Amino acid sequence: MQAIVAVSENWGIGKDNDLLFSIPEDKRYFRDMTLGKVVIMGRKTLESLPEGKPLKGRRNIVISGRQGYVAEGAETVTSPVQAAELVAGIPSEEVFVVGGGEVYRAMLPFCERALVTKVFSSPEADRFFPDLDNTEGWSLVSQSKEREYEGLRYVFCEYKRK
Ligand SMILES: NC(=O)c1ccc[n+]([C@@H]2O[C@H](COP(=O)([O-])OP(=O)(O)OC[C@H]3O[C@@H](n4cnc5c(N)ncnc54)[C@H](OP(=O)(O)O)[C@@H]3O)[C@@H](O)[C@H]2O)c1
Repeated sequence: MQAIVAVSENWGIGKDNDLLFSIPEDKRYFRDMTLGKVVIMGRKTLESLPEGKPLKGRRNIVISGRQGYVAEGAETVTSPVQAAELVAGIPSEEVFVVGGGEVYRAMLPFCERALVTKVFSSPEADRFFPDLDNTEGWSLVSQSKEREYEGLRYVFCEYKRK
């Protein structure tokens, strides 16, 4: 499986249960990559989505440790390991870990690839993605040309496990 994430210069991903950036091309990229696929997310990320609803057109798996937790339109599991077991038979390229901080950290050991939109800006953040430039076993394999939206410069990067 793979992680897909948008990070700031210091790998910040969110603040106050919201995203740090809203870049139309990045939203399209996320949609194009994940549509028709399986997405795995934490309960807090689900609740941060519009109306707290699962992502349309995708099989949503939500991780929560809460007893009897139910999310309409999503399957729920009680641990990252259970999420990994649930998708075990599905081709790796069809499964995306979509956040947030806690779930990225917990699911990264199951990921072989990470699609990282790097935004060259450093707003205050309270959630972070592991810094793959300084994580043993990961390397940057491709990077797009730089783009810009409303003064925000960004690139699409692909990291793989060595
Ligand atoms: N930049 C991006 O690409 C991106 C993408 C997605 C999200 N985000 C941001 O990330 C932030 C949310 O991240 P977060 O770290 O606060 O929350 P999160 O990872 O979305 O969800 C955390 C919740 O998941 C469940 N969970 C996580 N690990 C578990 C485990 N080992 N066993 C059982 N349950 C587990 C728990 O739910 P229970 O409390 O119900 O037990 C936990 O409270 C928001 O700011 C959001 O906007 C950013």
